[in-house]
Amino acid sequence: MSRALSAREVDTLELMDDPHADARLLARTYGRFGLVNALVSRPGMLYRRDIRPRADRAGRLRILDVGAGGGDLCRLLAQRLRRDGLEADITALDADDRAIRWASAHDRGAGIRYRRALTSDLVAAGETFDVVLSNHVLHHLDDAELQVVLGDSVRLVAPGGLVSHHDIARSRTAHALFAVATWPISGTLLADSFIREDGLISIRRSYTVSELATIAPAGWLVRGGVPARLELRWERDRARP
Ligand SMILES: C[S@@+](CC[C@H](N)C(=O)[O-])C[C@H]1O[C@@H](n2cnc3c(N)ncnc32)[C@H](O)[C@@H]1O
Repeated sequence: MSRALSAREVDTLELMDDPHADARLLARTYGRFGLVNALVSRPGMLYRRDIRPRADRAGRLRILDVGAGGGDLCRLLAQRLRRDGLEADITALDADDRAIRWASAHDRGAGIRYRRALTSDLVAAGETFDVVLSNHVLHHLDDAELQVVLGDSVRLVAPGGLVSHHDIARSRTAHALFAVATWPISGTLLADSFIREDGLISIRRSYTVSELATIAPAGWLVRGGVPARLELRWERDRARP
């Protein structure tokens, strides 16, 4: 790995995290997350592997998406569950009021519950869920915040439940491929959004699989995937005491 990518670049903040970010560009960024996730996050696999089997068993599945951003993952899961005749209560949680306002204005009948809150607020309220998940959130956190979110995730998951945090895995290849792949569409599909610049910063802020395995508390499983993905996973009935 090049020296520039040999450690997390936590001091560089993403443009979308700037409280004074241009509202129009931020809105376009939220609106483009669905496209990005369709290309890199493999939401269909998450649905088939972890959501549908649990929904089949659980009756009405309670899902929490931490750092839901524009809410596209929640809407996709709601759509697939409905298509398969399965029921769920889906909560889209985000610390940023701008994300929650944008996502709730674009619910498109999905019936998601949108909340501006932190995981610790839900813990304090005694809430529990069958699945706690996130996508592209871990790299926004510093090490202390990561430990809080992981501890809260475990407290928020009901017996038999699953925590599954998905993110980018930092690598020189991922950074180069993202730079090359997004360059031709930077003036069209990604124009007037923070997607390209924040995507590159995200990769530089992300963990590698081995870094995450080193700092994850006991009981958490770290898995690598393609393209340049990682999953930090905890299952209530499988975790070590
Ligand atoms: C890159 S966006 C990802 C959005 C969405 N999950 C997706 O995959 O498109 C990261 C989101 O996480 C939110 N976030 C960051 N830290 C958070 C925290 N501690 N609790 C809840 N949301 C958080 C940010 O406000 C932002 O909306």
